[in-house]
Amino acid sequence: MSDTQTRDAWGSKIGLILAAAGNAIGIGNLLRFPGKAADNGGGAFMIPYVVCLLLFGLPMMWVAWSIGRHGGAFGHGSLPGMFHRMWRWKGAKYVGVLGLALPMVFVLYYTYIEAWCLGYAWFSFSGDYLQSADRTVHMSSYFNEFLGDAPTSSYFSGLGAALAAMGVTLVLNVWVLSRGVAKGIEVLAKIAIPLLFIFCIALVVRIFTLEAKADTAIAGLNFLWTPDVTKLSDFQVWMEAAGQIFFTLSIGFGSLECYASYLKKDDDIALTGLSTAATNEFVEIIFGSMIAIPAAALFYGVDRVSEVAGSTFGLGMISIPEVLREFPGAEIFGGIWFLLLFFAAFTSSVAVAQPVMAFFQDEFKVSRAKAALWLAGLWGVGVIPVIVFFKYGYLDELDFWSGTMGLVVLALIEAVLFAWIFGIEKGWAELTRGAMVQVPGLFRVIVKYVTPVALIVILVGWGWDAISTGKLLPTPKRTVAIAEPHRFAGTLSATEFGEDLSPEDQRKKTVVEAFEKELDEAAETAGGDGSIRATVKLGADGGVSVSDVSAEGCVSAFTDAARLSEYLISRGTAYKEVGNEAALAREVPLVIDVRHKAPYIWMARAEIGAFVLIFLWMIRSSFRRHEQNEGAAA
Ligand code: TRP
Repeated sequence: MSDTQTRDAWGSKIGLILAAAGNAIGIGNLLRFPGKAADNGGGAFMIPYVVCLLLFGLPMMWVAWSIGRHGGAFGHGSLPGMFHRMWRWKGAKYVGVLGLALPMVFVLYYTYIEAWCLGYAWFSFSGDYLQSADRTVHMSSYFNEFLGDAPTSSYFSGLGAALAAMGVTLVLNVWVLSRGVAKGIEVLAKIAIPLLFIFCIALVVRIFTLEAKADTAIAGLNFLWTPDVTKLSDFQVWMEAAGQIFFTLSIGFGSLECYASYLKKDDDIALTGLSTAATNEFVEIIFGSMIAIPAAALFYGVDRVSEVAGSTFGLGMISIPEVLREFPGAEIFGGIWFLLLFFAAFTSSVAVAQPVMAFFQDEFKVSRAKAALWLAGLWGVGVIPVIVFFKYGYLDELDFWSGTMGLVVLALIEAVLFAWIFGIEKGWAELTRGAMVQVPGLFRVIVKYVTPVALIVILVGWGWDAISTGKLLPTPKRTVAIAEPHRFAGTLSATEFGEDLSPEDQRKKTVVEAFEKELDEAAETAGGDGSIRATVKLGADGGVSVSDVSAEGCVSAFTDAARLSEYLISRGTAYKEVGNEAALAREVPLVIDVRHKAPYIWMARAEIGAFVLIFLWMIRSSFRRHEQNEGAAA
């Protein structure tokens, strides 16, 4: 009978350690970390980062392993059951819904990113983006077209490639999960983690032996590792550092808890937690800083590192391949870069999905195959809008709620549960039982007082930021792009207006804002998308002249060429030919897209809500069954 099936267990100690490392090591280490560090001033980021690691990264890591092993002893691998055992309150199991809905939402878009990496590994090995017939492939348009987020179709016509990559990624994930913890996840980790180290070393050696085009690779390291104490008073930097610590350590989704539930009662969790954090930080700090940032410095120069690397996906999918393809062996090294990201993501995505698997198996007593099938159903259906509506910011919206806010909310609940409700004395006893390492006594004070307060401060800070910047109310999205990227290898860039503006810049800023506000209003009143097309002559002196303006959709009234040139001049849109400065004065077909995001943002929120409701209902029906069974047994 299925009720008597025993729970999964880890096959070996080394397997567990590799699987736990694979859980934590992911895109967060190799892409999000360098991206965030660059965006927050390099050296300015590292001090808050290390403080946050000690203040709540490591403590929450231990809390997670304690909650997980404790719940596992009662046969629960997901948070509803774990909370139910630690918290004598009927509602506790429903609070645990966050430990199902958040990872479910997260895994949808995380595996989509994983799928990009798989697709790009293919495009690298096959040389797809290396050269076109006469010109260099425009990487930014290539990426946007791949995602269906471009007004052009020079490289991809439609979402076929993205859907295929996602399909393969989904099948691989479900296949590993259906084989179980020891034969699936553990085997994957034993293959993927060593490969990951080999790929990292190959790339580091590659980048540090390349001939510098702008600055040296070492200059990139200096950018990251020269402490800058002037930014320490910037609250934003602290919040970003805290967010990165949670994300990279896989805290706040119930995933580490789930891995811990497959341990035995006296297995050492203090050491396992420590080794998970240590391996993760090793990869993040060493490889996370020795690949992407030095590569950007080498090619674009240190001055441009923040700009180039500040966009996480831009760094991984546009800048790094752009750098690597300039040197011999581009197919191989580009391929290694994307396979590295793919394997890092793969061992993390099975980890995020495992709590949901465990929930089906432990609480509904279904077989592994059936659990995997249910999961695949939710996953396959749930990911479709993420792909189709990507261009409306669907993925970013899911990321904000689950990958930024959600994991901190859940971590706060867990810290309070562990230190105040379960009780720090019992919690301490749970953590140290069977421990070979000495956990510092300070841990208790930190978990009980410092961590919860710091988490509340972060949440209030984010909430405040989201409300004051109007992030919660979706606004239309505008993009200015080259209409025929295959003919023009170059970049379009807009002036960033700083704080102390000259009167002239102030005037320009006013022009830009007024024009963009009108575009947004047009999209909002018409409730639809629109685009403006024009031929633009960009002079080397920064001059712009516009001709052949046409517009359609909600912005069809915007055909005034004089006004458009005024906007483009003020915006500072400069078209820069890569490697051919002499040809700056040429005609570029431009297109300005305006997308009405609101309906899709609300759809994303509804999808999150739907997952919460589905899992609440499942928790209710499964726990009812337990109660009836217990009643019958008594
Ligand atoms: N730590 C993963 C990374 O660095 C991402 C992640 C966040 C995650 N939360 C998780 C992975 C929960 C597995 C489980 O990319």
